[in-house]
Amino acid sequence: MTLRIAPARPSDLDALVALEEAAFPGDRMSRRALARNIQSQSLGFLVAREGGHLVGHALIAFRKGSALARLYSLAVKPGATGQGLGRKLLAAAERHARRRGADRLRLEVRADNAAAIRLYDRAGYTRFAQIEDYYEDGEAALRYEKALV
Ligand SMILES: CC(C)(COP(=O)(O)OP(=O)(O)OC[C@H]1O[C@@H](n2cnc3c(N)ncnc32)[C@H](O)[C@@H]1OP(=O)(O)O)[C@@H](O)C(=O)NCCC(=O)NCCS
Repeated sequence: MTLRIAPARPSDLDALVALEEAAFPGDRMSRRALARNIQSQSLGFLVAREGGHLVGHALIAFRKGSALARLYSLAVKPGATGQGLGRKLLAAAERHARRRGADRLRLEVRADNAAAIRLYDRAGYTRFAQIEDYYEDGEAALRYEKALV
């Protein structure tokens, strides 16, 4: 099946809500936040579609005058994981950030999220900090950064 990665559209909202519920046990974006994020000028909201079905998203946040972008969210639909989609969405997020003038991408990941940590390690991200008690349930966050050159 052909994979297409493109900006999210308002008509993706239902599928994005479903993805959020399926991919994250907690700390989810609400429907309202997702709707706002699709329209936001300071965010890049990319979705991956396979055979017309939404199978993943990547959300990148930008700040005016800053060359530092932040990967705010990355998710692949359970059932579509383990096939390279996460890696492709991450690469697309990096290209998007570069196109919008960023030279570094930062992200936070739960310290117990082994799959995501391995994905970021293998994609060349460097861990530079840990923040205790960062998530709703008290789990720590690991902070990663990559130079986009
Ligand atoms: C993390 C996530 C995005 C990975 O997506 P994916 O499509 O399964 O990832 P890929 O198939 O592209 O795998 C890329 C790399 O990630 C790592 N990885 C993915 N799944 C893994 C798993 N279950 N265990 C260990 N490493 C894993 C591997 O290093 C893999 O590369 P390799 O197989 O060559 O070693 C996906 O599991 C997900 O959406 N999880 C729930 C939401 C989430 O945790 N998002 C990240 C928040 S920071």
